[in-house]
Amino acid sequence: MSEQPEGIDVDLLVSEAWRAREGAYAPYSNFLVGAAALAGDRIVRGANVENASYPVAICAERVAASQAVASGARDIRAIAVTSSAPGPATPCGMCRQFLFEFNPDMLVISEGVSGERKAWRLADLLLDGFGPADLESAAEAT
Ligand code: THU
Repeated sequence: MSEQPEGIDVDLLVSEAWRAREGAYAPYSNFLVGAAALAGDRIVRGANVENASYPVAICAERVAASQAVASGARDIRAIAVTSSAPGPATPCGMCRQFLFEFNPDMLVISEGVSGERKAWRLADLLLDGFGPADLESAAEAT
């Protein structure tokens, strides 16, 4: 049985991330990634979507988080990630910054195809991250 911090059903979120991975479009890297964001009480899925112009690709985490936010669910409490890696892959730097905007305390869970799982707080993955408060404090100082 997995830990269930803050009443979050981690097993369910991870299984939704595996389901989300089925939607991955990754013909160039063959590295399929799925993400499931828990926003309020809703689970919103995303997968990586690549492009013939390679840098245009978007990660699964940003697809899931954007989908949640654009549908009005900004309170992202947790995100689960699954990938083609044997072990748990961590969100890339760009995704860490993107997610930080919505909740630095977000629980990030990752599971690889071997079944190995890891969990972190987003703020531990992006130490002293830049967020909305930094812009607000600058506005106050001017
Ligand atoms: N990828 C993600 O979807 N999430 C990450 O955190 C790391 C990388 C995707 C981007 C690209 O489609 C593929 O994995 C290989 O980098």
